[in-house]
Amino acid sequence: MEKKNIDWSNLGFGYIQTDYRYVSNFKDGAWDEGCVTTDANVVISECAGVLQYAQTIFEGLKAYTTEDGRIVTFRPDLNAQRMIDSAKRLEMPAFPEDRFIDAVDKVVRSNAAFVPPYGSGATLYLRPYMFGSNPVIGVKPATEYQFRMFATPVGPYFKGGVKPLTIRVSDFDRAAPNGTGHIKAGLNYAMSLHAIVDAHNQGFDENMYLDAKTRTKVEETGGANFLFVTKDGKVVTPKSSSILPSITRRSLLYVAEKYLGLEVEEREVYLEELSDFAECGLCGTAAVISPVGKIVDHGKEICLPAGMTQMGPVTQKLYDTLTGIQMGRIEAPEGWIHEIK
Ligand code: PLP
Ligand code: COI
Repeated sequence: MEKKNIDWSNLGFGYIQTDYRYVSNFKDGAWDEGCVTTDANVVISECAGVLQYAQTIFEGLKAYTTEDGRIVTFRPDLNAQRMIDSAKRLEMPAFPEDRFIDAVDKVVRSNAAFVPPYGSGATLYLRPYMFGSNPVIGVKPATEYQFRMFATPVGPYFKGGVKPLTIRVSDFDRAAPNGTGHIKAGLNYAMSLHAIVDAHNQGFDENMYLDAKTRTKVEETGGANFLFVTKDGKVVTPKSSSILPSITRRSLLYVAEKYLGLEVEEREVYLEELSDFAECGLCGTAAVISPVGKIVDHGKEICLPAGMTQMGPVTQKLYDTLTGIQMGRIEAPEGWIHEIK
């Protein structure tokens, strides 16, 4: 199979239309059998639930070319499960896990020419999503839904690759204590748009959101969870019921403990203890692990000792081990790698 003529090494995190995507519709209480289509456009009612009341959820995962030339995805079962959790919270029908994995297989296989080559630094990002498609005018859930999954080749989420980021403590809240922060709903991202545009205008790469109730504890950024490393090498990550349960973060904690022999701790992390940490990183499918060099809290600068030129040593080890597992250089724990055949 001949690869597309794309400058893989210079890709950013953007949308490039690929040849195929998967579609399935939910109507009269059941999902249809679904199919792969070349049609990249969605035509829905002007009154569709998603357009009126933002009834939409999504996921993000990647396909990788391994060192020995296979195409694999990383823990897609966890994305399927999280999408089911998101659907329940927004009163949407679950798209079953086996159907989700089948859609992943079909979208990646049919777009194999878009899967970036091993060593290019790029990957094929998959975006599963679901939305209420029938007319809804009173505030209530839709009765018809569409599940779709498209693929787009991507490079690093943050411009500059592994150059440490500068982030600011946000005055805006991301999620309410009993709200929707723990699911992957479009509404969580809509409300972050003003905060991210404002952060960029002020020269920051991202926002650090605090817990909305006390504004003393670290939650996450708009698109990634936090990982911190203490000065004595312990990996610490915030525990909160209003952050997205990142699959990357869960995987990294396992890698830290089982592969690197590090102590790990999932606990509440207070804003006032940030200056005690040696390293900080943002972790997620898109972000992988992006190092943070500086956190600015209303003019007060917290400079991580790892500095602004490269990843800290523990962050680097975590990054190398995780990407080694994803690209087939390091043996993966049972069930983590799903090969596309
Ligand atoms: N937090 C938010 C708000 C996200 O959008 C994402 C991206 O999916 C993550 C964390 C990281 O999650 P994952 O590692 O499952 O991609
Ligand atoms: C992902 O990492 O897959 C995400 O969905 C984050 C998004 C903000 C791009």
